[in-house]
Parts: sequence; C-alpha cells; structure tokens
Amino acid sequence: DYLKIFAPATVANVSCGFDSLGFAVDAVGDEMTFTKTAEKGVKITNITGADLTYNIDENAASAVVKKILKDANADFGIALTIHKGFAPGSGLGSSAASAAGAAFGANQLVGNIYSDLELTKFAMFGEEVACGSAIADNVSAAIYGGFVLVRSYDPLEIIKLPVPGELRVVAIHPQIEIKTKDARDVLPIEIPLKDAVTQWANVGGLISGLYTDNYNLISNSLVDIIVEPARKPLIPFFDDVKNAAIKAGALGAGISGSGPTIFALCKGDEIAEKVYKSIKESYQNTGIDFEMFISKIN
Ligand code: HSE
Repeated sequence: DYLKIFAPATVANVSCGFDSLGFAVDAVGDEMTFTKTAEKGVKITNITGADLTYNIDENAASAVVKKILKDANADFGIALTIHKGFAPGSGLGSSAASAAGAAFGANQLVGNIYSDLELTKFAMFGEEVACGSAIADNVSAAIYGGFVLVRSYDPLEIIKLPVPGELRVVAIHPQIEIKTKDARDVLPIEIPLKDAVTQWANVGGLISGLYTDNYNLISNSLVDIIVEPARKPLIPFFDDVKNAAIKAGALGAGISGSGPTIFALCKGDEIAEKVYKSIKESYQNTGIDFEMFISKIN
C-alpha cells in the first residue's frame, strides 16, 4: 500500500529525431512516493526540490493519478509526495518525469492493469496539463526506459530500441530557463525537401547504429540540420560546448529537448570523463552557473 519510485530525467529529442527519439538517464531524476488512502481521490502531501503547484488538476503528477484512479474505478485514494531531482525548464523532461512516474506508481497501486503504451497515454495527459501539448518523446522514454522511437502519434506506437553497452551521456545544464513553447516558436514551419532527406537519412543511420553497436555510424548520424540551427541562439555558448565535446572525443552533441541542457553521447567511461572535463573547462569562464552529469542510458 506504499510505494517509492525513481522517475528518470530524459533526453528527447536526440539530434535528428525531433519529437520522435528519446532516451532515459539513470543518474538524474525525481523520487516519488504513493500511499493508499481510505479516502478517495488524490492529494499531494509534499513537494520538495522545486516550486510546483499543489493544485490537483494543474500538477502533472496528481492530474495523471486522478485520471488513473477514475479510469480504474478505484475504491481508494492516493497520497503523493514528489521530490524533484532536477529543475523544470531544463530540457530534461521535468514534467514528463512527474507524469510518467505518476502513471507508473498509480498503476502499481491499482493492481498493475495497464500496459506501457497505456501508461504513456496517461502520462501524455500530464504533459498536456503541464505544458499545453501532449508530446510523447520524453514520457515514453521515462516509461519504457532506454532509447525509444515514437513511430506514430495516431495511433500511438512506441518502439523500444537497443542501447549499445558502452554508450554514455554527458550533459551540461546552464542555469537559465527556456520554455518549450518559446523554443517551438522559433522553429521553421516549412523545410526544404533536401534538408528533410538529410534529416530522415540520419534518423535511419542512428537507429541502425543502435541496433548494430556501430559507434561510428551513431557518430556520423548524430546530426540535426533543422531544429538545432533555429534553437541554438537561445543557448549561450552552445557551439563552444559542442566543439569542446567533439574535440574531447564525443560521438556528437546536441540540444536536450527544447534546451538549455546540452548533451553529448560518448563511447565508454574514459571518454565520457574527458568530455565532462572539457565541457566544464569551456563553460567555467562564461559567468553562467551550470550543473553537469555523466550517466548510463537505462
Ligand atoms: N521534443 C520537444 C521539443 C520537447 O523539442 O520541443 C519535449 O517534448
């Protein structure tokens, strides 16, 4: 009747895979607890680590729990605590972690009756509550774990992709906030066919590289010629970080979600450490505070 869970941060988009490719990070995330109550309905008893609303219908986590309790016809309620391990507006799927964690936790207490796909749909509702649009890339990565492809939105289809064993992510989160909506407003509405071809060929290459443990192919395909050029002016010193990462041996680097977090993928712990140091040195003189992490993709 009591459950404590970890809800992971997620990187989604992954370069060329705008709104369609994502992965879960195991070093950073939220902690949430779920307690069955005799009284029906959902309540949030404590939120720490970020200043989020306790309003049941406006908080991504409680809104999802409420929907699941109703859908499952539960004759009990759930009391929720949320400890945010990373900041909203970071590009690391903060609301998605809350929404996906809520869906996972509530499902356990109602008897584990929903599939991962159904949980993703519940969690997308939480994303909509928090950000105004029901994007699936972050929530599906948080629910399924590892690397995922949102193959279709209507009907929703999520493909779990393999993760090569030595793949690591290094990320830097400059302490500024970018709203997803603002980062979507700068995107082009139409793109040249030639650019679309480059982009979807890279998505294919990246996925093929994941299936075949081909780090060179992953590296060559980790490119985004459409979204990154439009968004990078919003992220101070983006090119410096990307260049530092690649010079230190990263497979590639890009914007995590809608930013400002910048991620680099690396092969192996040793290179990841080098990339971490190199990015850190490049950012230390900018005058902008930042946090960093290295993680496996799980
Ligand atoms: N993929 C979204 C974007 C962010 O880049 O705007 C989170 O879903």
